[in-house]
Amino acid sequence: MEGLDRRAVLRTGLLAGGAGAAAVAATHLAVEANRAGVGSRAAAPTAVRPAVLPFRGSRQSGVVDAPQPFAAFVGLDLPEGATRLTCRRLMRVWTDDIERLMAARGPLTDLEPELAAVPSRLSVTVAVGPGFYAAAGLDAVRPSWLAPLPAFAVDRLNRDWPQTDVLLQIRADSPVSVAHAARRLVVGAEPLAVQRWVQRGFREPLTDARPGMPFRNLFGQVDGTVQPATDGSDDRLVWLGADPATGGDGAEAAGTPAPKGLAGGTSLVIRRIAMNLDTWDQIDRAGREHAVGRRLGSGAPLTGRVEADLPDLAATDDLGFPVIDPVSHVRRAMATEPHERILRAPYSYDDPPAPGQRSNCGLVFVSFQADPVRQFVPIQQRLAEADLLNIWTTPLSSGVYAVLPGAQAGEDLGAALLD
Ligand code: HEM
Repeated sequence: MEGLDRRAVLRTGLLAGGAGAAAVAATHLAVEANRAGVGSRAAAPTAVRPAVLPFRGSRQSGVVDAPQPFAAFVGLDLPEGATRLTCRRLMRVWTDDIERLMAARGPLTDLEPELAAVPSRLSVTVAVGPGFYAAAGLDAVRPSWLAPLPAFAVDRLNRDWPQTDVLLQIRADSPVSVAHAARRLVVGAEPLAVQRWVQRGFREPLTDARPGMPFRNLFGQVDGTVQPATDGSDDRLVWLGADPATGGDGAEAAGTPAPKGLAGGTSLVIRRIAMNLDTWDQIDRAGREHAVGRRLGSGAPLTGRVEADLPDLAATDDLGFPVIDPVSHVRRAMATEPHERILRAPYSYDDPPAPGQRSNCGLVFVSFQADPVRQFVPIQQRLAEADLLNIWTTPLSSGVYAVLPGAQAGEDLGAALLD
């Protein structure tokens, strides 16, 4: 029998009956009231952008929002013998805690609530792996793409960051908010889920005037230029739609049909990719630009002037060689079919080097797509076969998760899947 502490009794209407349910309802009301207050502060004329992202809704925050500068990715596993009840209780606890944290309030059991009180565009996005489906007895409805990615020739995967049953993506404008939220959610989840690893990352938007996806990675490159639109027009590439088999709710009818319980969700691929800055240092600027096919300064294609220019793949130099090398990163990564597009939201990491090492840097590469097998795998396959960037990059881990739909008012995360 899983431990049932004071907090679980308070939160878990599942077991605690009327009193627990009333406590949960009261908490929700308090959170809503608080959110309204914080939201109106954020809407003051001086605010550049809202300091609080929405928690409630058909989709979770943290997917199409401009990535905040700081992130932690936390992989957790369910305990031995976990059941669907374990999964539901975990989601009950996290729904309440995440709603409060994103509203700039500490969870009920927060020992440092002051750390939660500074709104910093915190988003916590909950995603689940194959082990979650197995524990919940839901293998029959697990999406076919929720399985290990194929092995790629470039992979040098180690055991430090394996696929886990659950993933939390925690992002915010402040590293304090990320650290605090990660701590509270991990401690709050025990013993329903136990932390296996944490990957931290950072990034800067290129300018405030142009919020969005591009940033500079630690190779100094403009990264995130070619992306699906996040204004709704490319939704079908990113989001899972209503499930026609169950009738769905019609709200996402334009999107890719969703496996059971995932309408309004998506998939998240996470790959830790080491970047060797020491050998990168040995390459001159022209060589670096050649490897990616874009200019370092402006991010423009080698055949263009500004970042937004389309690459001219037919252009040749004085000697008749293609200006954009056929094995440059962008040439190999670019879509060969209209559906081969993914929303990339990676973060740089710069961890302490091991003794004798000078640097330990790379990307926590993260992408969102409706179907990783159709969209992500062909791109990664091409890059694994030939990509000049491979000289300096090495994938160290690989995971794939289903991002749950958002929690509607009065509902827990994962409700459509677990109920
Ligand atoms: C450390 C590893 C990597 C680095 C440093 C890197 C860097 C870059 C840079 C600088 C660009 C050009 C600007 C842009 O459009 O964002 C780019 C484009 C792109 N990358 Fe990567 N990338 C890495 C890994 C990957 C991986 C693993 C994938 C997917 C499997 C990927 C997919 C793409 C795609 C789809 C594009 C846009 C191509 C186009 O249509 O022009 N990248 N990357």
